[in-house]
Amino acid sequence: MKYIKFEKILLAIMVIMITKIDAQNEKSITEKVNGLISQMTLDEKIGMLHGNTKFSSAGVERLGIPDWKMSDGPHGVREEINPHSWEAAGWDNDFSTYLPVSTALAATWNPELAYEFGKVLGSEARARGKDVILGPGINIHRTPLCGRNFEYMSEDPHLSSTMVVPYIKGVQEQDVASCLKHFSLNNQEYERFDVDVKVDERTMREIYLPAFESAVKEGKVLTVMSAYNKVNGYWCSENKYLLNDILKKEWGFKGVVISDWNGTHSTLDAANAGLDIEMGTDEDNYNNYYFADKLKTAVGEGKIGIERIDSKVRRILTTMFKSKVFDKSRSKGELISKNNFEVAKRVAEEAVVLLKNSANILPLNKSELKSIAVIGENAIVKHAAGGGSSGVKTKYEISPLEALQNKFSDKVTIQFTEGYKTTTTFDWQDGVNDTSISNSEYKKRMINDAVEVAQKSDMVLMFLGLNHHYDNESTDRSDMKLPYGQDKLIKEVLKVNKNVVIILIGGSPVDMSEWIEDVPAIVQGWYAGSEAGNVFADILFGDVNPSGKLPFTFPKNLEDSPAHKIGEYPGKDFVVHYKEGIFVGYRYFDSFDVKPQFAFGYGLSYTEFELKNIELSKTRFTISDEIEVAVTVKNIGRRKGKEVVQLYIQDELASVERPHKELKEFKKVELNPNEERVVKFNINKKMLSFYDVELKSWKAEEGTFKIHVGNSSDNIKLTAEIELVATK
Ligand code: BGC
Repeated sequence: MKYIKFEKILLAIMVIMITKIDAQNEKSITEKVNGLISQMTLDEKIGMLHGNTKFSSAGVERLGIPDWKMSDGPHGVREEINPHSWEAAGWDNDFSTYLPVSTALAATWNPELAYEFGKVLGSEARARGKDVILGPGINIHRTPLCGRNFEYMSEDPHLSSTMVVPYIKGVQEQDVASCLKHFSLNNQEYERFDVDVKVDERTMREIYLPAFESAVKEGKVLTVMSAYNKVNGYWCSENKYLLNDILKKEWGFKGVVISDWNGTHSTLDAANAGLDIEMGTDEDNYNNYYFADKLKTAVGEGKIGIERIDSKVRRILTTMFKSKVFDKSRSKGELISKNNFEVAKRVAEEAVVLLKNSANILPLNKSELKSIAVIGENAIVKHAAGGGSSGVKTKYEISPLEALQNKFSDKVTIQFTEGYKTTTTFDWQDGVNDTSISNSEYKKRMINDAVEVAQKSDMVLMFLGLNHHYDNESTDRSDMKLPYGQDKLIKEVLKVNKNVVIILIGGSPVDMSEWIEDVPAIVQGWYAGSEAGNVFADILFGDVNPSGKLPFTFPKNLEDSPAHKIGEYPGKDFVVHYKEGIFVGYRYFDSFDVKPQFAFGYGLSYTEFELKNIELSKTRFTISDEIEVAVTVKNIGRRKGKEVVQLYIQDELASVERPHKELKEFKKVELNPNEERVVKFNINKKMLSFYDVELKSWKAEEGTFKIHVGNSSDNIKLTAEIELVATK
């Protein structure tokens, strides 16, 4: 007891000391920034507020301020782009580590890995001489069709918040600014440049903004990218409510707001609403940007005060100081090191989700297997470079077939055939186009080859799913079906061999209804980075025990998904109404009793866990209290493994409609067989609250709340009740 008190005092002293040091640093930065601004001409100031190449804004050489260099993207530093065109620069030293994409990272439910991930990204950005890395993307998955879901984390604000904070800390500790994107409500790619999102205040506060808020307040993110779309009538790059009122004033964001590339629409409106830097506008002459000559003229004509310009420059310079741009001790970073690829591997190992494993067909036993059929183009496709701006030119990416051949070809006969082929083209203007003639002879022949190989093999591993023609920036899928005739391929293979394992690649759910009952094992593999193939092989053969959990619901079909159910996707006449409100993802499936294919938070292991003994430090709760919830998790199987203990809260009766339950806490624990551990959570008032639009703040109402603990949103094992007795 005494020891705990001492620890708390020590912690308090440390916090005071750190705050003091921070305040001193901040003071000295302010003085230096003011000193620089006082020496700058208007032209020099304006030069800092818009792009001077595709990925930089100007510095002021005579004052020792370098150009500010930016780079995509969220899961690896993008290859070098020519300064003034979109062509690749063609360097031979711009290879980077391809980290698993953000959905995969979120599927680990492991914030420590998010921190390691961030460190690798930040370090590689430094090694490439970058100041700002354009990631993470944390828009909420509203529809399974969004082409950029793979770049985002989850349908749930708490999971996104918990993962994004350590990611940003990891990046920024490497002396690089993270750029949080896309602020905000950029949840579809279809008509992304035009669509106006009509959303109510409560939905925005409870679903779409919390991860941004945590990234700003806890993650201390240094830059934010405004989204392309409009929100409630105003472009995000000139949305005063989002940028000035919420981001800068309410959340206290001191950093820089950067426009998305070619996402600025005005000079005065944008400058007054809170945009600080204009990037990527479709103009060859940078002086024609809204924040270039036009902004200078507006200052000259007295339409905008110099203090507004100074405040933008101040934000940029302060951010530069914070990421040590002027400091000799700035991190030099490390590119494509062994450690960086190891981190990519560790993330992938915890990201893969085992969706189905009838009769424990997995893990495979190499000593019993004589022959394996490997079927599916995704066994050989490399995905790193795809997806749009987030593409990575990686030093290597191990495909599933390469990994299986490297590891097992001396022990097992491996026969590969594609079974299907990419017959689409992708184009930034028109999106995906299927050029194939359906039922062509060629398709039939590929299926026949697959059937033949499957027939001759003990086991069939099918690497299927999507690719970056479908999971791509600027386009959404048109349905949830597997492309290229894969449903038919699966059904034909199943006719000759029942020992089929399907490994799905992709960043969004696919419709499995045509074959799910007949396939004994399914694995969700995502786009799992440079080490993807090795990790899949390790999981399939049991060298790694899967521990990933779905970061979003897999509906049985598209129509079950809330926005589609109510016909509010993709909108009409460039307007989309988020009429499903707060009922996004599992909040909808749970509350309206719609059975998903696989629930949010779901994922199997090769071992089994038991959750037992829920204990509360008290059950009557006043508003300033905290309640401790303790549960025991035990590994009751025969292998070491990791389980994610998930805590959801349900408000039994409220003055507003509330979801059946909401994720409020989770912990991932590793346990040996027979080992058990007590996992503790603290419940506070915020976790019981909803956003009250009248009060313009969060409100917890008196009454009973249920605390549910389980290992997915639809598998609750323990429930307890607490009573909130006083709200003041
Ligand atoms: C994307 C951003 C990206 C930027 C620069 C835009 O099209 O929406 O996410 O950072 O391009 O490549």
